[in-house]
Amino acid sequence: MIITRTRKELDVALKNFSKNSEKLALIPTMGNLHEGHLSLIRIAKKHASKTISTIFVNPLQFGKNEDYDKYPRTHEDDIKKLNYEKCDILFLPVNNKEVFSNIEDIKTIHSGILGSELCGKIRPGHFDGVLTVVNKLFEIINPDVAVFGAKDYQQEILIRQMAVSLHPNIELIKAPIIRAENGIALSSRNNYLSEPELEMAANLYKSLYHSAQSYKKNVDLKTIISEAKNYLISKKLIPHYFELRDHNLNKIDINQFEGKKVFLGSVTINNTRLIDNIEF
Ligand code: PAF
Repeated sequence: MIITRTRKELDVALKNFSKNSEKLALIPTMGNLHEGHLSLIRIAKKHASKTISTIFVNPLQFGKNEDYDKYPRTHEDDIKKLNYEKCDILFLPVNNKEVFSNIEDIKTIHSGILGSELCGKIRPGHFDGVLTVVNKLFEIINPDVAVFGAKDYQQEILIRQMAVSLHPNIELIKAPIIRAENGIALSSRNNYLSEPELEMAANLYKSLYHSAQSYKKNVDLKTIISEAKNYLISKKLIPHYFELRDHNLNKIDINQFEGKKVFLGSVTINNTRLIDNIEF
């Protein structure tokens, strides 16, 4: 794997690839790689001849009181894993300037109304930060394909909407959620939790799963949601939202909605906020 630490190094590596007219897939990450990320690389390899991964903890998507400083940075381990997966290029910028050039002059991409709902309600500005960095990475790397995980359901949709207007030639692929044995969706933030807390956290998945089953059985939606929230509270999880939406995240407030839909939930457990969803 070619490791690039500056824009110059990245440009050279990309030029060598484009000379051979390779199809390039991008897997953007913030590092601390786990099986979920590695599954994105394996999927990317099915859609392109070369893969490039980025590891960049993007300051723009963290709020003032969030975990930007303590976000796990495990570069050595990450590089080993990427080598093992035979990723072709890694862009691991030495500093923020290698991504944004002039931090005062960043082209902010606004995430609109959807960006202020669900996770955006709890993390104002978060999705603007995500879209801004992903747009920048798309501009710098200009991949043919980009892969994002379905765990960050809202993020994936917002990126898709942004790409339709700004990067229509990039094919976006949504990769399924990878779960631990107890059902919990893999996430770098799971590292903040102890073993007993991880067991508690599995109740978010259980409540989403149970809610989807109940909806299929025509149980009233309002009842499903209030029971799910009560269940989470009884398991010492603090729910932020628990909602049913359609696959574009339009609100659903009726029973028996026939199209593709998704239950989404977010909880806090001991200061760590987790998200998960089930599409059905
Ligand atoms: O999902 C993530 O890890 C990040 O939000 C992303 C897409 C790499 C942008 O920083």
